[in-house]
Parts: sequence; structure tokens; C-alpha cells
Amino acid sequence: MGKVTETKRAKPFVKWAGGKTQLLGTFRQFYPAALHRGEIDRYIEPFAGSGAVLLYIMQQHPVREAFIADVNPALTAAYTVVRENVEQLIDFLAAIEKEYLPLNEKERRKFFYTQRDRYNRMVVEGEDSGARGLKRDRRDVNQAGLFQFLNRTCYNGLYRVNRAGLFNVPPGSYKKPRICNAKNLRAVSQVLQRTTILRGDYRDCARYIDKKSFVYFDPPYRPLSPTASFTSYSSASFSDRDQAKLAAFYRAMDQKGALLMLSNSNPRNTDTGDSFFDQLYQGYCIHTVHARRLINSRSDRRGLISELIITNYIPD
Ligand SMILES: C[S@@+](CC[C@H](N)C(=O)[O-])C[C@H]1O[C@@H](n2cnc3c(N)ncnc32)[C@H](O)[C@@H]1O
Repeated sequence: MGKVTETKRAKPFVKWAGGKTQLLGTFRQFYPAALHRGEIDRYIEPFAGSGAVLLYIMQQHPVREAFIADVNPALTAAYTVVRENVEQLIDFLAAIEKEYLPLNEKERRKFFYTQRDRYNRMVVEGEDSGARGLKRDRRDVNQAGLFQFLNRTCYNGLYRVNRAGLFNVPPGSYKKPRICNAKNLRAVSQVLQRTTILRGDYRDCARYIDKKSFVYFDPPYRPLSPTASFTSYSSASFSDRDQAKLAAFYRAMDQKGALLMLSNSNPRNTDTGDSFFDQLYQGYCIHTVHARRLINSRSDRRGLISELIITNYIPD
């Protein structure tokens, strides 16, 4: 398989909190040598999000198949539609883009709320499968299309739901949002033909992880301070206890002989004495990298934020 050029490369089709596009260049030096040598059969990403690393690796390296999981059902459903029904999805997005872009600001807001209601009605009806009027495929395409429309036009591309599971992010104010990028969607669909999409907990990936696997874990980051901005990816958040359970899972997968890489926030950005991850991942390689984000807006505390990459191998 030849390496793909920048222009042809499939990129994430959703904006996602914690997306790794900015860090792809930095990550390259931390991938295992076996990946470069073509010795990895399976790439596994148990916290898929927008799949920036998945798309990069599956196009740059000769990996046979991929497995991704995410606990967010709207996101995994969108992945499935991109894989199975990309042309119908493109038609849906092209039509909604044509309707949305010519509207003025006031009309756009109104249109956004109408589509948000429509999307939320589909979410509720979907839970009661007897209430489905449309054919299953059509319904899934419309729902995934609305999910992408909302993602592109809502405030900061956030994904947030209320207790009832209804999407409640307000409209954003982008001048010309790219709602339908047909070329990219087709390229992503190509990669997904070799990808198994799992809706649910990261542990569901365990059965696919073997000694010819490379696994990249990108869990919700541990907040740098109790007051740090709370990014809710789904209705549940990820506590310190969850981080500890994930570390136990990492050890179990290490026992299987898989190559593992994990990223997280560096608590030392705000508390130099905080050894939370050093304890959880004792015995593994803990690397510090700099992200292109500022630590906070207070000028007296400004500085580039660092993040952790934890591997169970010594990178090249
Ligand atoms: C930091 S984001 C991943 C970002 C991704 N690497 C990217 O480039 O967009 C974390 C993801 O983990 C998902 N998540 C949270 N808890 C999870 C769990 N228990 N199992 C699987 N996925 C989970 C969230 O829905 C979110 O999409």
C-alpha cells in the first residue's frame, strides 16, 4: 500500500473536543518501530472521538484492519453511516448546506433550532423502535446527517447532551461552515471499510487485542484542577477512579503482548508535586510533549501546556 499524499488524505469528519489533528506530527516519533516495519496487523483505538489518529495510521502504514470504540452512540452511528451509506449521506448534507448557507444570521439561528429539534425527536423515537416511520437506512442517514450539520454549525463544535440525552448546544456563528465535504467523506469511508466500529465501553476492545496489535488510548483527559473547564463528551464523565481502572486495563493488555500508547494531561502543569500518572503507570515509559495550547488566559500564568504520552515500549 503506497503512502497517501496530503491532498488525498482522509481527515476527521467531525470537530471533536480533544481532537488530535494538531498533535499528529508530534505523535509520529512515539509510534512503535513495528508499525514502521509493517509488523502490526491491527490498529485499535478504544476512545475514537473524531478518529484523527485512526485515519492517519490507516493511510500511512500497512495495517490490515482497525477496531474503534466510543461510548457516544451518536458518534458511532455517524461512523457506521459514513462507512455503509456515504453517497446518501453526501446527498443529505449537500441539500442542507444549500438551504443553510444563503440564510441571514437570524434565519440561520431559526433553522439551526428547527434541525436540532428534528434531530432530538429522532433520538427519542429511535429509543422506541415501534415509532419509526422511515425505513431504517434512510432514518440512520438523516440522523447522522443532522448530527454532522449540528456539529459544523453549533457553538465551537461542542457535543453536549442534557440528562434526557438530548443535544442542547446553541448555534455558533461561522460565516461559511463546511457542512458537506464530499471528497473527504468518501476518503474516510474508504478507510472505514477496514474498520470495525464498536458502540460502547473501551473494554469491549479487549477481545480484539493481541500481540500483533497497536493500541492508542485517548481517554477524556484528567482535569488539571478541580475547576478546570469541564468537557462533557457524553452524559457520563471520567473520574480519577476511571483513570485508575483504565491503567489496570492497560496493564492487562500489556500482558497480552500488545504495543500500547496512551495520552493524557500532565498534572504537573499546575501542581509540580502531582504524581498521579507516575504511580498509575509505574514501570512504563512516560514522555512529556508540548501541545500548542496555552495553560490559561491569566497572563501571569501563561505558558505552553504539556501533555503525557505513555508507552509500553521504547520509541525508535
Ligand atoms: C479525548 S476524546 C478522544 C479524541 C480523539 N482522539 C480525537 O482525535 O478526536 C475521548 C473520547 O472517549 C469517549 N469515551 C468516554 N468514556 C468512554 C468509555 N468508557 N469507553 C469508550 N469511549 C469513551 C468520548 O465519547 C470521547 O469521544
